[in-house]
Amino acid sequence: MKLYKIFNFWFVVLLASKLWSQNPIIIPPQLFGPIYDLEMQNGTHQYLDGHDAPSMGFNGDILGPTLVMDAGDLVQINVLNSLGEETTVHWHGLHVAPEDDGGPHSEIDPLETYSPQFEVLDKASTYWYHPHLHHRTFKHVSFGLSGFIIIRDTEEQALNLPRTYGVDDFPLVLQTKSYDPVNHEIRYITGINPGNGLHNRDSLVMVNATIDGDLDVPQQMVRLRLLNGSQQRVFEVGLSDDSDLHQIGSDGGLLSAPYATDRIRLSPGERAEVIVDFSSYSVGQSIELMSYASELPDGIWGADDPIINHGGPGTYNPNPINGADFTMLTFNIIAQTVDPVLSIPATLANVVPIPEEEATVTRTKHLIAGNGSAVRIGNTPQSADGFDIDVINDVITLGTTEIWEISSDTIAYDTTSVDPLEIDTMTWPGQYHPFHIHDVQFFILDRTDGDGNVTLPHPGEQGRKDVVLVNPGETVRFIATFDDFASPVPYMYHCHILPHEDAGMMAQFTVEPPTIYVDNTVNHPSSLEDGSLTYPYNEFSEAYEAASIQHGKIVFLSGGTYGEFPPEITVFKGIELQLDDGSITIE
Ligand code: C2O
Ligand code: CU
Ligand code: CU
Repeated sequence: MKLYKIFNFWFVVLLASKLWSQNPIIIPPQLFGPIYDLEMQNGTHQYLDGHDAPSMGFNGDILGPTLVMDAGDLVQINVLNSLGEETTVHWHGLHVAPEDDGGPHSEIDPLETYSPQFEVLDKASTYWYHPHLHHRTFKHVSFGLSGFIIIRDTEEQALNLPRTYGVDDFPLVLQTKSYDPVNHEIRYITGINPGNGLHNRDSLVMVNATIDGDLDVPQQMVRLRLLNGSQQRVFEVGLSDDSDLHQIGSDGGLLSAPYATDRIRLSPGERAEVIVDFSSYSVGQSIELMSYASELPDGIWGADDPIINHGGPGTYNPNPINGADFTMLTFNIIAQTVDPVLSIPATLANVVPIPEEEATVTRTKHLIAGNGSAVRIGNTPQSADGFDIDVINDVITLGTTEIWEISSDTIAYDTTSVDPLEIDTMTWPGQYHPFHIHDVQFFILDRTDGDGNVTLPHPGEQGRKDVVLVNPGETVRFIATFDDFASPVPYMYHCHILPHEDAGMMAQFTVEPPTIYVDNTVNHPSSLEDGSLTYPYNEFSEAYEAASIQHGKIVFLSGGTYGEFPPEITVFKGIELQLDDGSITIE
């Protein structure tokens, strides 16, 4: 009897310790619109118990609030920079005008406030925000500046999915950082200062800035919004018992149907929404979120060897988590909530991929690294120049659908004697790059490996994307339409390995309005048969007025002989013009 009591007592204590999180991860607070106020500030964060390390956060010491937005809303985000140094904030994945995108051209000076305003045009999904100052993105992100954006829409709302934030719906930013245990600082490089390579020892694993954290999850369907917010590391995400993750969303929206898989490979910048069925576990049980990095092929950062044929581990090793399976987070199963979601819908969103035939332009880009020279993006494998903020690399016509072919060059790009498809004869380092483009969400068409084998994207990659993992030697083709925003301010495309981006593996494009050519001699009012004014003064004066608002372009072929009009004027998108053969609308 006495023995039983003791047993019982310890059982309760053990159970209790299982019921209460030992080290609960941070769950960022939510902010609702239409006006969001963010302040970027310096702070401290205890990565290791008892040691404060300098950190940066939005409205706090580290990370930032989750911005919740509804599709169709007009929002304004006020970002006050209290860091004491310049920075920018970019809304990763959102389709907004380049002026509102927060790229390197939208510098926020110390004590200045940046206040972009935009309509939420994206689909329900998980997006994120982070600084994007050229040369300083690595520093600012790894010091802690990143936050989630959750967009909701009616299509998602109509589905029976878990969506109670912090209860059965959790944003999880997966990160590793390199920590200096002597000075208690996060290590980084700037793109100007290449450092000593110790930033590659990113062995501190954290979820929502919490090391060895755990999370209480109810015994039901739970939605995890996974974001790889790391500087360079790819995660091979899985559960410790290898049970399925049901992927429901990719970067820019829900998939058409859930995709059950025991592994999700997530490269920096990528998101995946997954549902985990915790109903099969008992209350008090624990299960771990893992990265099975031992399964990553060489050439991917996170694997045993991040660079193929580079002749040694360099500064990348020793790093105990390279090529090793490790725990990122422990889930503790707690009791069901009152109204649990207990099943996963069989179909999700109406995903409409862009047909390949719609593309009228194809661009080829090479991600070039190795040979001891700077990382960069070029139109050919031989391109020599890295990012130059004053050079526009591509000009795209508004409304055009394009195919982009992105290659990760693993070859001796400066030698002609090596067959680019012969991985075996590779001379220079070969590595993966996560390619990201602003402005658009794209659809992956296919991947061609170094041997010429073509594969279609797996179901988890068939939705809207804004980052794609390009394997060493591989060419990925994607398709996108560049709608809505034309401006002289450029958008970026770049490798989302932060030290690569900072060092110049980035380029930029502008979107230009379509040009309408008007033959002034033919279209002069007096030349019209019925004498009607189909080319009237008003239309053009309206157009001319609109020029200051948006950017469409009319070119008068005869050089502006028609009175007060200049040879080139810019017009509003959507405006209707009367020409001799009928009216046209500028799209
Ligand atoms: Cu997540 Cu151009 O960035
Ligand atoms: Cu982005
Ligand atoms: Cu890269």
